[in-house]
Amino acid sequence: MPTVAQARESNATFKPSYLPVAVFIGGTSGIGQAMVEAFAQYTKGNAHIIIVGRNQAAAEAIIAKLPKPASDDDDDDDEDEDDEDEDEEEWKHEFISCDINLMKNIYEFTADLKKRIDHINFLVLSAGLGEDAKVMSILAAGQGKPVDVDDLGLKKNFSAFQAMLQTATYTDYAFEEFAIREPAISFTHIFPGFVDTPSVSGLLDYDQWVVQLIKPIVTPLIRLFSVPSTDCAERMLYALFNAEKGFNRRNDKGDSNLEDKSGKEEADAEIRKKVWDHSVETTSVGRQ
Ligand SMILES: NC(=O)c1ccc[n+]([C@@H]2O[C@H](COP(=O)([O-])OP(=O)(O)OC[C@H]3O[C@@H](n4cnc5c(N)ncnc54)[C@H](OP(=O)(O)O)[C@@H]3O)[C@@H](O)[C@H]2O)c1
Repeated sequence: MPTVAQARESNATFKPSYLPVAVFIGGTSGIGQAMVEAFAQYTKGNAHIIIVGRNQAAAEAIIAKLPKPASDDDDDDDEDEDDEDEDEEEWKHEFISCDINLMKNIYEFTADLKKRIDHINFLVLSAGLGEDAKVMSILAAGQGKPVDVDDLGLKKNFSAFQAMLQTATYTDYAFEEFAIREPAISFTHIFPGFVDTPSVSGLLDYDQWVVQLIKPIVTPLIRLFSVPSTDCAERMLYALFNAEKGFNRRNDKGDSNLEDKSGKEEADAEIRKKVWDHSVETTSVGRQ
């Protein structure tokens, strides 16, 4: 279990021999934003970074501040300009707008992405050829409730709380299934812990008088008990860079929290298949 300082030190050794292609779905705010910024810092901007979200203004402000590869500043003579053009064909920091609430949008987004790039090295949701191929979902690994296989999709007993607990476990199973189907790729589902991000502080932005009354007390408590998004990003990046091929389920310190699965493999396989079939059926909505 690395400390944040150790994670930072290890992340700083990330010097790929290739130009990494990293897609951050949810990179316009919070943990995803902090990971984009740290990733760009460690690669000195020498990466193809794609931020996906809805907030274009936020994405543009983030991209404007990312470090650019050194050759970008050298525009003194024609030769250097040629170099710059060449470099620009390689490194790129861009935003793609997509509201992932609709499957239709996801199909359009992935079709567009396939035209822009021929591979992804790091896919963060918050392949191939001797290079890294790593996927990470930042949600709530190992924090959910056992799946109710008689109510997949919560059509009988829906509540937001129930949905939160079930989707955490659905993601555990889905990532495990992805890893079985694509053994050369690492799939990590991770729990970030309690992190000070806009989605957390935004809970206190409601106009109700009760919320406004407790805000001055709760705000410092959030600061006290939460982790800054920049520290969290170092741990997430550490877990991403060091993920092994196959399925990785990680807690907020980056440690595996798979222990409690031992002895339940057979039952797990059955439930995993049901969750997978349900997920495929659900995500096929709107597919041409
Ligand atoms: N913060 C915590 O304490 C905590 C604890 C446990 C788990 N988590 C999990 O960690 C992940 C990141 O949380 P966070 O606190 O960093 O959240 P955040 O600051 O609210 O950021 C969420 C990101 O997701 C994007 N997003 C949300 N809905 C979207 C949609 N429909 N289409 C496209 N993009 C969308 C947002 O982009 P746009 O606004 O540009 O659309 C934003 O970039 C989440 O999965 C959260 O459940 C966080």
